[in-house]
Amino acid sequence: MSRSRLVSDKKNTYHILTYGCQMNERDTESLTGFLRQMGYREAAPDEAGILLINTCCVRESAERKILGKLGELRKYKLARPETVIGIGGCMVQQPGMGERIRKEYPYVDIVFGTHNLHQLPRMIEQCQFGQVVEVWDSEGEVVEDLPERKVEGIKAHVTIMYGCNNFCSYCIVPHVRGRERSRNPEDVVKEVHSLVGQGVKEVTLLGQNVNSYGKDLQPPVTFADLLRIVNGIDGLKRIRFTTSHPKDFDLALIEAMAESDKVCEHIHLPVQAGSNRILTAMNRGYTREHYMEMISRIREAMPQVALTTDIIVGFPGETEEDFADTLDLVEKVRYDNAFTFLYSKRSGTPAAELAEQVDADTKKARFQRLLQLQNGISLEHNKAHIGTLHEVLVEGRSKTNKELMTGRTRGNKIVVFAGDEHQAGETVCVRIDEARTWTLLGTLVPQNGQPQ
Ligand code: 5AD
Ligand code: SF4
Repeated sequence: MSRSRLVSDKKNTYHILTYGCQMNERDTESLTGFLRQMGYREAAPDEAGILLINTCCVRESAERKILGKLGELRKYKLARPETVIGIGGCMVQQPGMGERIRKEYPYVDIVFGTHNLHQLPRMIEQCQFGQVVEVWDSEGEVVEDLPERKVEGIKAHVTIMYGCNNFCSYCIVPHVRGRERSRNPEDVVKEVHSLVGQGVKEVTLLGQNVNSYGKDLQPPVTFADLLRIVNGIDGLKRIRFTTSHPKDFDLALIEAMAESDKVCEHIHLPVQAGSNRILTAMNRGYTREHYMEMISRIREAMPQVALTTDIIVGFPGETEEDFADTLDLVEKVRYDNAFTFLYSKRSGTPAAELAEQVDADTKKARFQRLLQLQNGISLEHNKAHIGTLHEVLVEGRSKTNKELMTGRTRGNKIVVFAGDEHQAGETVCVRIDEARTWTLLGTLVPQNGQPQ
């Protein structure tokens, strides 16, 4: 296939397909920033001059889907050989993957790792001379001169740290995103100011383990300090954060949350499993008892707090008894919501080497039991809100019913109500009338009402 084309000849358009977590979505925003800075605008895939896939590899199913998609992109290259096709992100960072893509998908022009996003403009220029593969093994310095991103809507994610030091035995993230590197608080604040200037009212601070934020900075800063600093930013209404690690979660953070009026009463605290035996095999660094104790402390300090979690079902060696411990923990904690995952074997992680892999049917059956239990609990939580008043930050029109408006409570519950488009970005008071598993339905209450 001919690579003889000039960048300037292209219709300056791009399309990015993003897979995976909020980190990946944030990376796509950076890629978008670079492309816009180069004068590119977004277009449909069949029209775009540059087609990028930003990948995820946390579970094997994502990887299969992405390689399938990469195969599909060939048709665009056949139809318009001048199209630039690129693939980057976590999946590419796995050992041997860059090379595999280069060989098996020869029509791909650019292959880039998670540490190479800032090189995109140069890679686009270079790829006219041949395939470009840039996958750095190690992370290097935090790159701060990313282009200012343009956001739409009232919510945005802000990365406060990259990488992870934990090496949970099932997880590929530390292998593909490297060690923990924190951004300086000044850079985080600068970014939030810029977002607020564009109309953003709510930021979610992102890191794989926000509780260890700042330990690598000179002088060290804690996550609690950062929350207090961001809380002081005028024009910002709400602050959320994710993800917390139970082994590092401390009471100083609860204090900072209680003191900072903009920080929402919601904690995502992934437990992963309810059995101590499995927690040890997962290398999580805490016991079920420690976790439950932390939950009690959190609830004592913040009775209104919403708690969510991640749980993996079918980790190697998980017996019926271990799984019963997980169900028992879920019943005791009574999460507002839980993200449940079937264990997926990731090569290069220690758990992939374990002999006693749980068979697919057992995994699926356990997954369904857990889902059923949690859905019932989620609905009960939502029903308990009926008749209560909530502060809702209005996001815009409901996607499912354009007549209605939608927003979220401080506890991150979606609320749908009859309102006005002009309320987008405002906080309003809503009384909850009806509860479903995923949504609350309510009625606007005049502002002198007292939301929870
Ligand atoms: N298999 C299944 N789930 C996984 N997660 C991470 N790695 C795996 C894996 N190999 C889940 C964890 C984590 C969430 C983001 O993804 O629950 O908290
Ligand atoms: Fe993966 Fe564990 Fe790090 Fe989370 S804390 S990213 S599960 S290694």
